[in-house]
Amino acid sequence: MRIGILTGGGDAPGLNAAIRAVARRAFQLGHRVSGVKNGWAGCLEEGLIDELMPADVRGILPLGGTILGTSRTNPAKERDGIARVVKTLKHHGVDALVPIGGDDTLSVAARLHEAGFPTVGVPKTIDNDLAATEFCIGFDTAVGVVTEALDRLHTTASAHHRVMVVEVMGRDTGWVALMGGIAGGADLIIIPEFDLTLPDVVAHLYRRRGEGKLFSIIVVAEGAKIPELERELGGEAEKDAFGHTRLAKRGIGDILASAVERETGFETRVTVLGHLQRGGSPSPVDRIWATRLGVAAVELIVDGKSGVIPIRRNGGVEVVPLTEVITESRRVPKELYDLTYVFV
Ligand code: F6P
Repeated sequence: MRIGILTGGGDAPGLNAAIRAVARRAFQLGHRVSGVKNGWAGCLEEGLIDELMPADVRGILPLGGTILGTSRTNPAKERDGIARVVKTLKHHGVDALVPIGGDDTLSVAARLHEAGFPTVGVPKTIDNDLAATEFCIGFDTAVGVVTEALDRLHTTASAHHRVMVVEVMGRDTGWVALMGGIAGGADLIIIPEFDLTLPDVVAHLYRRRGEGKLFSIIVVAEGAKIPELERELGGEAEKDAFGHTRLAKRGIGDILASAVERETGFETRVTVLGHLQRGGSPSPVDRIWATRLGVAAVELIVDGKSGVIPIRRNGGVEVVPLTEVITESRRVPKELYDLTYVFV
């Protein structure tokens, strides 16, 4: 059998670990492997699909990015897009596909399965917002980046008695902000799941000063809502093929920092971590779980399964239908967010 591998959507540290795992297990079981270039874009027209040999996946475990390239191309938006993807894959002799991605990539994967093409996904997104799974490739590394940044910002914030606003990624959910904020000892964490008002933020900062805490670190997710600032935030930026606006263009970190300085008179600086959170070498957790799920995906394919995805649940590998991870975004629960108020 020839097994195809594809990485789609925003890149994330650990994608190469997953590619290596899929390929190595496939070779071990006596199968051939093809790499689809640039996400779903590589499955349209003639296709950008090349044979992967063992040497191609050697030494890639610690590498960030994806050796296959990625894109946010959405074939479901194109005329006969899904049928064309299937045709291209078949034309290149691919019998089954392992797409590695988040809700967008996996929604196309589910359509391929419905169209009768054997497809087994692997969960990836630094946003950590896929339903059902306790692990998404890239999240752990992103949290590590935020944590290290907060450690560094603490020393300079403390030296200058400043407020530091740190904007992090997280489109519809605040997992990176929350976990990075907890690990890095943030004084206030603002996420899309739970709105805060500007007066809430200001009161919080005054209270800390009143307690003799001369600096504060605020972590804000790029998609968070602060009603008083909505008018000032960047307008509707252009949308990608999956209908997402570029949230970094809203500039919530910058706008919040200006508002804080204006309202409190406290000297305030902003740091936007941006794509640093997606770059560089994956953490051990991302490597280990990308490896486990990549191997599991191949075993499912070889077993004749399709329309499913291996996930982490209760600390082990479980298999669920693809539709289960993409039906809704997994949001931060209130009881977890409330933990942050112990450390204000
Ligand atoms: O979906 C993952 C993500 O990292 C979001 O957190 C962020 O809004 C988006 O990708 C940024 O994407 P791009 O690579 O298009 O700037």
